[in-house]
Amino acid sequence: MSERAVRHTVAALDDLEPGTARRFVLDGTDVSVVRIDDDVYAISDTCSHAQVSLSDGEVWCEEREIECPKHGSTFDLTSGEPLTLPATQPVAVYGVDVVDGQIVVIIGDGENGATR
Ligand code: FES
Repeated sequence: MSERAVRHTVAALDDLEPGTARRFVLDGTDVSVVRIDDDVYAISDTCSHAQVSLSDGEVWCEEREIECPKHGSTFDLTSGEPLTLPATQPVAVYGVDVVDGQIVVIIGDGENGATR
């Protein structure tokens, strides 16, 4: 982890319903935190196609994807890559830890603020 990385405790794991996403603003960065079972993912909340909150979209648990609520592009939660049109650009992906039942999002550890 680089010196630039900042860890943000955002919520208790138990407060985020499995199969849902929630938007957080962390140092001015909109982040969508997604829980699937006991796995947690963090990606940029803003769709790469337009200024739409991905947290308002549907979480596809089995596929580990989130669907943009506006035009339906789906994004891989592990890579941020768009898997369906019309989006063609990836969204940033951030590191996540669960420490003592608290979700911690790590911002600013790599290129474009992403950690992976
Ligand atoms: S705004 Fe997300 S696919 Fe168009």
